[in-house]
Amino acid sequence: MRAPTVIIKFCAVLLALIALVTGGCSGTSSATVDDKSLVLVAGATGGTGRALVRNLQAQGYAIRAFVRDEAKVRVVLGDDIAYATGDVRDIATLHPAMQDVTYVISAIGSSRSDPSNNPEAVDFGGVKNLANAAADAGVRQFVLVSSTGVTDEDHFLNKQFDNILNWKFKGEQALRASGVPYTVVRPGGLINTPANEFSVVFSQGDTLAGRISREDIALICIAALQAPDALNKTFETSNSDEPGENDWASLFAELEAD
Ligand SMILES: NC(=O)c1ccc[n+]([C@@H]2O[C@H](COP(=O)([O-])OP(=O)(O)OC[C@H]3O[C@@H](n4cnc5c(N)ncnc54)[C@H](OP(=O)(O)O)[C@@H]3O)[C@@H](O)[C@H]2O)c1
Repeated sequence: MRAPTVIIKFCAVLLALIALVTGGCSGTSSATVDDKSLVLVAGATGGTGRALVRNLQAQGYAIRAFVRDEAKVRVVLGDDIAYATGDVRDIATLHPAMQDVTYVISAIGSSRSDPSNNPEAVDFGGVKNLANAAADAGVRQFVLVSSTGVTDEDHFLNKQFDNILNWKFKGEQALRASGVPYTVVRPGGLINTPANEFSVVFSQGDTLAGRISREDIALICIAALQAPDALNKTFETSNSDEPGENDWASLFAELEAD
């Protein structure tokens, strides 16, 4: 396994400095609003991860992508991205990646094509490693992309793929036990459609079905970073079939804490 490397490019440092200066001059009384501190995106080269990186960049956040494959990061995320290489199964690679990180968003997921990168190792073990490393580093908030259906032990996906949802649920529990403030976002089936095409539904109790755009999931995860009402909450989400604006603050405020 490759030794961990943290490569911070000049432009990313510049972005962080600009974010610091503009945040400092905003005159807001809230510590979280306009806070563009460093976000570690785990699974940044995946489908949801790419949407996260793009939208975080658009919103002016400082970003560090956590990636397995240095060549892939260039192809997928371009040249102007700060990144750390490692593997969530290897906690030693996570500690350097967490240096100076304020927020973590995880969109990692196991691979059907690689038996060693299975749900137990990644969706449980990897999330647990990430959460514990984040807690050790004093991370302010950890947003986890999980899934609907994780509390249904008999869900057909458990039979199709190595108990994936059961392991995802254990990953959620490991995050809650880590002590780091968190938000667990449980999407329905992920689709590659534009953001804000349809309004979004939030639900609790793990009864929601449906599908949701990866772009909308990215926006929800990023909005959670700015919302005290999203802290220590778990919810399911899917697209409705109605067009409409999403008021993230109101949606978070209606949720019950865990
Ligand atoms: N697909 C669905 O319909 C659906 C529905 C609900 C929830 N979800 C969940 O939503 C999340 C995002 O899904 P997605 O389809 O956007 O993800 P994805 O495209 O499969 O991307 C997964 C990411 O995890 C990374 N990864 C895998 N193993 C890793 C390891 N050992 N160490 C570090 N990184 C690792 C991958 O790295 P590489 O790029 O190097 O491969 C990739 O960037 C996942 O947790 C998924 O299970 C998916």
